[in-house]
Amino acid sequence: MGDNVILVGFMGAGKSSVGRLLARRLGRCFVETDDMITAHEGRSIPDIFAERGEAHFRALEEETVRLLALKSGDVIATGGGLPCRDGRPDALRAIGTVVWLRGDFDAVYERAQRAGARPMLAGRGRDEIEALYRAREPYYRQAELTVDTTGITPDQVVSKLLLLLRDRSLLSPLGRGQGEGRS
Ligand code: S3P
Repeated sequence: MGDNVILVGFMGAGKSSVGRLLARRLGRCFVETDDMITAHEGRSIPDIFAERGEAHFRALEEETVRLLALKSGDVIATGGGLPCRDGRPDALRAIGTVVWLRGDFDAVYERAQRAGARPMLAGRGRDEIEALYRAREPYYRQAELTVDTTGITPDQVVSKLLLLLRDRSLLSPLGRGQGEGRS
């Protein structure tokens, strides 16, 4: 298994803020699959959806997963839909320790609405988004570790996650202790 830490979860789960903090605490690089895609395409995620459609975006995610296999020792935040394809949870597990940032739907929905331009939310009502969340849960649930983020700050999520990773000896020597104490 690869030695990356891979964060999965619904839009608004806090993958970006938690990932950035975790990487800093461990002295590792932080990578976002959405950033890999926008850098490759030279345009924003909303523009990719608007100009090429969701199917094209999903094909770019597929390619991104192949590129992730080349990474080592990184903290990786995935887009909310990336793990939710048949075979994808296994592909991610081969690349690193997969962590589901789980949150109550209401909390996650509220955060997702607040931050960022998210084409998957556009034109969909709350019930539709909740149905999408429920349909994706079985994929997220295949993560090796789950951290419940409801009602706690990203800093607290990172602390919980570090405990879990250490308890299970899931940090490679690269990450162990290095960078600790930095804020
Ligand atoms: C998506 C989530 C987004 C981004 C794209 C599609 C989804 O990432 O990948 O807009 O299908 O849930 P975040 O989870 O970081 O918002």
